[in-house]
Amino acid sequence: MISTIALAIDRILRNCAKNVNVLLKNQTLDGCLLIALITTVTIITFQTSMGMFGPYEYVRCKPDLRIDHLCLGRSFIEPVERTIYVVTPTYDRYVQIADLTRLSNTLILVPKLHWIIVEDSNHKTTNVEKFILRLEGEFAFHSATHLYTSTPPQYKLKPGQPTWVYPKGIWQRNRALEWLINNRDELDQDGIIYFADDDNTYDLKLFAEIRETRMISVWPVAFAGGLLVEKPIVDRTNRSKVVAFNSEWRKDRPYPIDMAGFAISLKLYFSKHNVKFSAKGPIGFIESNFIGKLINSWDELEPRSNECRDVLVWHTQTKQPNLHEEKRLNNTSMTEVK
Ligand code: UGA
Ligand code: MN
Repeated sequence: MISTIALAIDRILRNCAKNVNVLLKNQTLDGCLLIALITTVTIITFQTSMGMFGPYEYVRCKPDLRIDHLCLGRSFIEPVERTIYVVTPTYDRYVQIADLTRLSNTLILVPKLHWIIVEDSNHKTTNVEKFILRLEGEFAFHSATHLYTSTPPQYKLKPGQPTWVYPKGIWQRNRALEWLINNRDELDQDGIIYFADDDNTYDLKLFAEIRETRMISVWPVAFAGGLLVEKPIVDRTNRSKVVAFNSEWRKDRPYPIDMAGFAISLKLYFSKHNVKFSAKGPIGFIESNFIGKLINSWDELEPRSNECRDVLVWHTQTKQPNLHEEKRLNNTSMTEVK
């Protein structure tokens, strides 16, 4: 089809060129009219054919219509309706802005997204404030909310303690949930909440999957729970039903799902009263405890990401930079790169 139209356009253009030559030789009024007619027909044919093929339609689309359509190969004119509220806890460290930059480079490509950044701090830090200011240009089609709340001192890791001793990001995610509750009337009532930590790696296709969430969606997460992929397993005959998990670590978790492996609809969230994350309970149970307050059983989970076969999010963790030379030099400008 495409090659036939291209051939036709090529033939028209060749004819046009021939006629220009004839006109230049004959200088007749008929020739002028003929050229005007051929040019008009060529332009119309060109525009019509461009409109029929993806990339050209895409260029003409509003930016809001981008990623979901390119990724899932759906119609280019299908609008994206539902807002995704992405909640990201973050804390002060050398790689903080690097991690946030990498995440922002993903999120700016996702239409209809509201990014809630919650600092683990008792004030807004200059680094994050500057980072959000820099985003303003790039975030022309999005919006961001900057919040803060600090983790209680008794839950803060002491130097040398293993990272799993205390749960992380609890108070920050709860601060974001509180913001959502307080601003409930202004929100997209058909929206979805996704908890996206600042150091994971997210495929853009994930956001199209998130947008399908009716109640609570689940999908595989790579490098979580000590496995290459920790994931829900769906029923062989009923592919929309989760019947098991391939998790190994803390198998007694009622919902063995990493924070990056689920999204919930605002409708479900608001149908319950003031559901929050809790720091109490066994290590590794924060997701299970939260999900358990929203649904009653695995039957309510909605498997996504190609029936939980595809990995669209990786639980990557950023390596701390080696700064031993800086420390040896007692470099006072080190805080500037934070
Ligand atoms: C795993 C899970 O993927 C997290 O969702 C879970 O919160 C965490 O375990 C946990 O132990 O509670 P992990 O890579 O070990 O993740 O945790 P981090 O990425 O270090 O922290 C999770 C989020 O909380 C990040 O966005 C991070 O910036 C933030 N965080 C971390 C703070 O806000 N304050 C901290 O002191 C540490
Ligand atoms: Mn992490």
